[in-house]
Amino acid sequence: MNNETILIVDDEPNILNAIKRLLADSGYEVLTAGNAEQGRALLQNREVALVLSDNCMPGRSGVDFLAQVKLMSPNTERMLMTAFANLDTAIDAINRGEIFRFIVKPWDNNGLLGAIEDSLMHYRLVNTLKVGGEAMFLSMARMIELKDPYTRGHCSRVADYALAIAEQLNLHNALLKEIQWGSWLHDCGKVGIPEHILNYPGKLSEDDFNFVRKHPEWGASVVSQAGLSQHVVNIVLYHHEHFAGGGYPFGLKGQQIPLEARIVAVADVYDALITDRPYRPAHPEPKVRSIMEEMKHSILDPSLVDLLFLTRDALDFTDSVTACRMLATSTAN
Ligand SMILES: [Fe+2]
Ligand SMILES: [Fe+2]
Repeated sequence: MNNETILIVDDEPNILNAIKRLLADSGYEVLTAGNAEQGRALLQNREVALVLSDNCMPGRSGVDFLAQVKLMSPNTERMLMTAFANLDTAIDAINRGEIFRFIVKPWDNNGLLGAIEDSLMHYRLVNTLKVGGEAMFLSMARMIELKDPYTRGHCSRVADYALAIAEQLNLHNALLKEIQWGSWLHDCGKVGIPEHILNYPGKLSEDDFNFVRKHPEWGASVVSQAGLSQHVVNIVLYHHEHFAGGGYPFGLKGQQIPLEARIVAVADVYDALITDRPYRPAHPEPKVRSIMEEMKHSILDPSLVDLLFLTRDALDFTDSVTACRMLATSTAN
């Protein structure tokens, strides 16, 4: 049962009614306002999860109104509806962090519903993580893994491998804890990616891959809004940067990538190679080693790859690898 409140602001009653009808069976409480001032008054009295506002309205514009919403109620998600001609305004608002998404009028119903669901998932994640505590972080990580049976247990295993590397570097205990939490949450931005893309058993189209490439920034906005530390944000934001550059989202290189993110990148790649993926079976350990040797200097920090295998030889990861293979087999059946 969805019990969140959504506020729609538009000066055209037809639009308010159409969106209300669209959300009729969703279980959300839907409030409507004909202008920014009415919207502000409604927001003053209750907790609203999402404001969806038109841009061109008599009186204050949607962008200005949503900037005010950000001050009044920082937790509330903000979406802008705009005509195609005003796309520049909407993109500027996204870049300034004023809004999460925009919808171009006339909209496609599935696109609008999907964008609303993504915004609300963002809202729920931030609020759950804010409550904080290790158990909460781990349970959010597990909830994200449910979207993709192949990644069951991935976050915990990445944390095991990352900690094994980090311990060799004699990092202090507080940072080890941040690395564990960051490993659990590194893919939390994937909640915004539709399951048919996450579980696609082949090479993704350019558009779908571009969607997947947004997950670090999306996840970083969740963990930073939830007030988690900069180290956790760094892990989530930079875990797909490449040591030699050319990764995403920013194409950073070498030491520009925070150490904690380079550690988790090595752990993440190791776990991806050693387990089944939708598009290929797990690689045997010697093959994993040779692939990761080739990734040294290009994708991964070479010294950290060496440390992983040093630790790998000293410790026994066999239990987690065997356990995850059993899990993958049981979900495949
Ligand atoms: Fe990722
Ligand atoms: Fe991952």
